[in-house]
Amino acid sequence: MFYLKYRPKTISELDNTRVRDQLRKILESKDFPHAFLFVGQKGTGKTSAARIFAKAINCLKRESIEPCNRCVNCLAIASSSFTDVIEMDAASNRGIEEVKNLIRETSFLPMSGKYRVFIIDEAHMITADGFNALLKTLEEPSPSAIFILATTNLEKLPKTIQSRCVKVNFGKGLKTDIISMLKRIDSHEKVNYQNDFYSLIAKHSDNSFRDAAKILEEVSMQRIKTVAELETFLGIRGKSNLLEIIESKDNKKTFIWIEEFAQNAGNFKNLIEDVLEELRIQLLIKKGVIIEDEKITTLTLSEISRLIKLLMEAYQLLRSSPIESLPLEIALTEFYNQLEIRN
Ligand SMILES: Nc1ncnc2c1ncn2[C@@H]1O[C@H](COP(=O)(O)OP(=O)(O)O)[C@@H](O)[C@H]1O
Ligand SMILES: [Mg+2]
Ligand SMILES: [Zn+2]
Repeated sequence: MFYLKYRPKTISELDNTRVRDQLRKILESKDFPHAFLFVGQKGTGKTSAARIFAKAINCLKRESIEPCNRCVNCLAIASSSFTDVIEMDAASNRGIEEVKNLIRETSFLPMSGKYRVFIIDEAHMITADGFNALLKTLEEPSPSAIFILATTNLEKLPKTIQSRCVKVNFGKGLKTDIISMLKRIDSHEKVNYQNDFYSLIAKHSDNSFRDAAKILEEVSMQRIKTVAELETFLGIRGKSNLLEIIESKDNKKTFIWIEEFAQNAGNFKNLIEDVLEELRIQLLIKKGVIIEDEKITTLTLSEISRLIKLLMEAYQLLRSSPIESLPLEIALTEFYNQLEIRN
């Protein structure tokens, strides 16, 4: 599977740029902290980065900051057979007993490595008792113990635990970073897709590197070649261009498009949600809050905000409307009418 085959093995292969730079700095410093908190949505590289980190600090032939991925330590960590790297999934081992066992382990000196690394996944699932027990260990860890707590849910982690860890924010996968990952995979797999192809996959990956890698794998297996085929595969055929048609401000074209969408049993709820999401991104781009390589709309800021208001009303009306397309048609009629009054 692509997402396992191309799991990053070095810091420089981490396509999450923010994380890559932060981990680099940490590994370059002589005296790095002993407890880390990796925070971020699923599929953003927390587990991958934790293993790379464990390798880097235990590598026997480490050059610069990167693990060599060839020495016995690196190989053992890669195959999960290294006794000094202990992974615990707190989703299934959340109680005081499991945490106590883990703490007991921290008192042992490393056997083959320089550090014993404790990776606790889904750390927010640990019980209150468990956290209390862990807290003391985090306050005075043995010099050879390193803790990496990974979580998708920072708010559920006690402040006391948070304050004893150095936080590394994986956030959500940025579209540009996800595209870099897809291209990295492609350089090995030689599927040779165009940029707009990757851009579309990245947009529909739920900001997850893992999901994007899975989509790429399926799409290449099914020998999907054109953007149109990809749109069909992603279930978004046609949806993406309603906004483009609105931009053209062509009344007739717009209503023909909606009619066809209705004829093809399109889902108006999803359609309006998608267009609203796109408009929100455009709003943030215009406000300079995000800089994405999205296509920038020709609509003005006030047109965008008016459209958002009208489409939100249409969205509300969907449930009570006897005809599904009607709320959207009314909203766009109003939008175009106001344009005419202004011009
Ligand atoms: N930063 C990244 N750079 C490149 N690929 C990534 C990155 N993060 C995740 N991936 C891909 O997603 C898969 C799952 O990542 P993982 O580290 O398990 O994420 P998490 O632990 O945050 O859910 C990896 O095997 C890899 O294919
Ligand atoms: Mg993980
Ligand atoms: Zn090594």
